[in-house]
Amino acid sequence: MNALQPGVLAPVPRAARYLSFSLRPRANPRRSLAALAGLADGESCVVGIGESVLRVLGSTVEGMRPFPSYAGAGFEVPSTPAALWCWLRGSDRGALFHKGREIEHALAPAFTLRQAVDAFRHGNGRDLTGYEDGTENPRGRKAVAAAAVKGMGAGLDGSTFVAVQQWVHDLDRFQSMSVKEQDNSIGRRRRDNMELARAPASAHVKRTAQESFDPEAFVLRRSMPWTDGTRAGLMFVAFGKSLDAFEAQLRRMVGAEDGIADALFRFTRPVSGSYFWCPPVRRGRIDLGRIA
Ligand code: HEM
Repeated sequence: MNALQPGVLAPVPRAARYLSFSLRPRANPRRSLAALAGLADGESCVVGIGESVLRVLGSTVEGMRPFPSYAGAGFEVPSTPAALWCWLRGSDRGALFHKGREIEHALAPAFTLRQAVDAFRHGNGRDLTGYEDGTENPRGRKAVAAAAVKGMGAGLDGSTFVAVQQWVHDLDRFQSMSVKEQDNSIGRRRRDNMELARAPASAHVKRTAQESFDPEAFVLRRSMPWTDGTRAGLMFVAFGKSLDAFEAQLRRMVGAEDGIADALFRFTRPVSGSYFWCPPVRRGRIDLGRIA
């Protein structure tokens, strides 16, 4: 039986490393993907495949499409497609680093590492602004219903789509805001995580309230703070049974519906945006039977 990669459902780990890869010109990815399938259990390494790789394999996964780009009032939301994405999950940064090298070697020469980003859990799962992240995530069966493809047949059932966006925070700007302005920009009180009864329409949780969409737009968020020593922010990661829910939320965040941009843009910016299809697991390994 196919199932979701277990790392999708598990709580956010203590430490992580995100790898994104490009495909070399005219490279055949089959052998590299087979080597990756031997290494990736979907738990310590969650794998996502980009549209360009599906195309070169002659495969289609219904619902896969390019990440949209937007220009809002004073900000951009870029689309930066990548061939392959690995989310290494664990607790020991050294072990994650070495696992990353092992994967990089297994994927060579067809794939080249484009970016590696180290991420970590902050407190009980907070963004670096101090706000708890993930409170309104669906749980249990609802999490599976939000994330897992079903009714599409072997090799597709148990797969999921993921939206990945690296956000860079301007923490000086954020810290120059009053506590009230900070709380209003999220729509929750940082002190006790209570939702504000009268949050402005630009508040992030007002923009993204999952039940307010038609159809309802539930996603399974597994974002983590990251830093490269000088810059820092949130690696936003949202899994879904399709990309529709994420896209509906993003459209509202940029103000495409009503001209009101999410207040998050007052102190943070996305610098990347990619979609991947995450194959299911079978007998403890990612199952590439549908595409390779
Ligand atoms: C720097 C980027 C972001 C930060 C710091 C951030 C932070 C937060 C925080 C603190 C919450 C409230 C607690 C919770 O329910 O998790 C939240 C909720 C949420 N965020 Fe974000 N978020 C970011 C980007 C995004 C993006 C890009 C999307 C989707 C396009 C998104 C979708 C959601 C959703 C769906 C909720 C729950 C809304 C609800 O149903 O109440 N977030 N986020």
